[in-house]
Formats: sequence, C-alpha cells, structure tokens
Amino acid sequence: MPSAYGNMTAGELDEAIASLESEAAELKARGLSLDMARGKPSPEQVALSLPILDVLTSSADLVDEGIDASNYGCPDGLPSARALGANLLGVDPSQVIAAGSSSLELMYSLVSKAFSTGVRGDAPWSEQGPVRFLCPAPGYDRHFAITQHFGIENVPVRMRGDGPDMDEVERLVEGDPSVKGIWCVPKYQNPTGVTFSDEVVRRFVSMRPAARDFRIFWDNAYCVHDLVEPGETVMNVFDALALADVTDRVYEFASTSKVTLPGSGLAWLAASPSDIADVKATLSLERVCPNKIVQLAHVRYLKDVAGITEHMAEQAKVLRPRFDLVERKLSEGLGGLGVATWTHPKGGYFVSFDGPAGSAKAIVALAAQLGVKLTPAGATWPGGVDPDDTNIRIAPTYPSLEDLSAALDVFVVCVRLVSARLARDARG
Ligand SMILES: Cc1ncc(COP(=O)(O)O)c(C=O)c1O
Repeated sequence: MPSAYGNMTAGELDEAIASLESEAAELKARGLSLDMARGKPSPEQVALSLPILDVLTSSADLVDEGIDASNYGCPDGLPSARALGANLLGVDPSQVIAAGSSSLELMYSLVSKAFSTGVRGDAPWSEQGPVRFLCPAPGYDRHFAITQHFGIENVPVRMRGDGPDMDEVERLVEGDPSVKGIWCVPKYQNPTGVTFSDEVVRRFVSMRPAARDFRIFWDNAYCVHDLVEPGETVMNVFDALALADVTDRVYEFASTSKVTLPGSGLAWLAASPSDIADVKATLSLERVCPNKIVQLAHVRYLKDVAGITEHMAEQAKVLRPRFDLVERKLSEGLGGLGVATWTHPKGGYFVSFDGPAGSAKAIVALAAQLGVKLTPAGATWPGGVDPDDTNIRIAPTYPSLEDLSAALDVFVVCVRLVSARLARDARG
C-alpha cells in the first residue's frame, strides 16, 4: 500500500519536504545532545538497588551454608547463589554455575572454549574447517560480535512474531554439520521484544542437529523484565528437553545486570549435568573462585524469586512511562502515514522500529545531525548489514522522560523527512 507521501501529488510532496526541512533546521538550531542508543537502566532504576551496598558490613556474618564467602573456595559459586539462579530458571541447582557478574562473559568463555578445546571431547571448532552460527535478526549485536571475533560465519535467520524462522533453523541445523550453534534471547528478545512461542521452543528441542557439538545459546537476559502484569512466559527449555528425551542441547544464561547493578551482580549458566561438568573443567582454570561477597550480598538482599519479582515490579514502574511515551509519540507522529511499524513490547529493554526500505541509515545519520544519538543502523544484523536497511533499535530506558520526549520528537521528524525524500526519489 502506498504511504501518505506516495499518495501526494508532486507539488504536495515538495511542499511537505520543504516544511519538514524547516522543522529539522529548527531542531538543529536547538543544539540538542540526547542519547537514545544505550540499553542501560536509568539512574532511578539503579538507585532502587543501592541498598545492596548496605547489606554487608565488616561485622556481618560472611558464612553462607557453611562456606566462608570472604575466602577462596566454591568455584561453582555460593550454594545459595546457585539455588537462586536455579529457582529463577526452573532447574536443579546441580545444573547451575554462578560465575562472575556478566552473562556475556560466560557466553564468550563458552564459545572460546568450544573453539580452542572443543565441546565434550569433540575436536575444537577451530580444527573442523569453516564453522557457522545462526543469528536470529534483528538481534543483539554483542552476540554476533563474539562469534565474528572467532572467525565463525554468522548466518542471519529472520525473527518472526513468535521467534526465529524455525523452518530455516531446522533446515540449516539438521542439514549442515558446520552449524555449531544459534544465539537466542527467548523472552522479550533484544530488540524485537518477542517471546518465543511454546511451538518454537518445542521445535528447538526436537531438532536433530547434524553436529553432535551443536549447542543453543539460550540467553534468558530478560526473564524477569516484565513491563506489565501479567507479563509473557516462555516455556522452560529444560522441561521441554526432558519431554523430548534430549539432554545435551542448551546452554542457558541469565544475570542480574538489569535487575540490580549492571556489571556488579550475578551471572548464571545452566546446562545438562554432563555439559556443566565439561564447562567446569575449563572455568576452574580461569580463576580459583568467583566473587562470593557480591553473590552473598545479592542473595541476602533479593532473598528468593518472589523477592526478585517484587524488585522488578518497582523497576517496571520506572520503565513503563518511558515505553508508553515511545508508543504515544510514534503513534501521534507516524500513525496513519504508512511509512513505519514498531513493536509494542510487554517487557525487556527495547522497541524495534522498521522504516521504509533504504531508510534506516539515513534516519540515524539525520538524527545525529540534529543532536540525537541512536543505535547505529544495521547493528541488529550480523556484520552490521541489514539487508533492507529498515531496522532501528530504540532504547528508551536510560534518558529522563523529558530527554526521551525531545529525542522522540526529533526521531519522528527524521523518519518523516527521510520517508518523504524516498517517496520523491522513487518517482525518478
Ligand atoms: C540479550 C542480552 N544479553 C546479555 C546482555 C548483557 O548481559 P550481562 O551484563 O550479564 O553481560 C544484554 C545487555 O544488553 C542483552 O541485551
């Protein structure tokens, strides 16, 4: 269907472009410096977690279930920290390692390990010829950067409304032994906000990979990040595996980065008992033990899954107005023009925006000229190459409501102007 700009006469379109250009010039003259690129919690969210710093003092009891958190020991993490992660992910604590403060670091370690020493005794990926990894796109650029770093070929697979295109995933995973893994964010995916359907989870666990050392990197980064009540739920992938009678298939990750203090919290890995043993052997070479003091403070502060849920409900109160503002500004500014679509997530950190084909780079560049920094166009695709140049990740969490409102006004003008110019170019 042609857009509102496509339906205009040549004269009307020229007039619309001239009017948008003068709006853009006015915005530029304001000398704004706003940032809508960062998927970071806002200072108000972080403030909610600062009492963690008061939990442990020099006189606190630092022994947890018989383990002295202030000394070496417990390479798999404090038992209570492992139990918290296990309850959160719905698995047995024996299947969980609590390590470090970054789930991304764990993901990197596992790819690095597979690449240099192999998975469960199979040859290292580096010695198996060309190796490929599937990248649901739009997706998370830092995932794609890890596999790209090791020279692994990132293969894009389209994200759909219920998860990755599973016909394509099955075709590639079952037909090609060089496909060793896939990046997945099963709940409130970054950036689409899509939660994988039960059918998609079932298809993931019942695939028959051509490679024995194929693993799904199931990054459950947004497992407790609901914006509304009730939020969405994703099927427990380990329950699904058990039902399908499959064991060694999934590495699941989660962290408290966007629950408490980013970079100063807990990160968890869950996997089958044999995979956990395999991973432990490597992790135990990397360090003697994780930061158990941070683990202890978190467990004492958050207590249990109910405590996390309560804490996240407070965070949602901070975030919801930001997401509502994005929805309102985009609907008011772009609704009915037929130039763009965007997601309406019930959780997570992003809104995924699609403009006309060939528009995203131009919109991001124009917004930068007008003083608004956006996530680089293409970042949501492996190699930075969005085949249609449509997708832009909007990150509304960090700016204040006032800054976000000003940034969205600029964004809307940029989308309108670029779309109108494209409609004019299309007429030749
Ligand atoms: C999908 C996803 N995974 C992982 C991370 C980073 O997690 P961590 O801080 O635990 O490394 C992010 C941060 O934006 C993310 O969006």
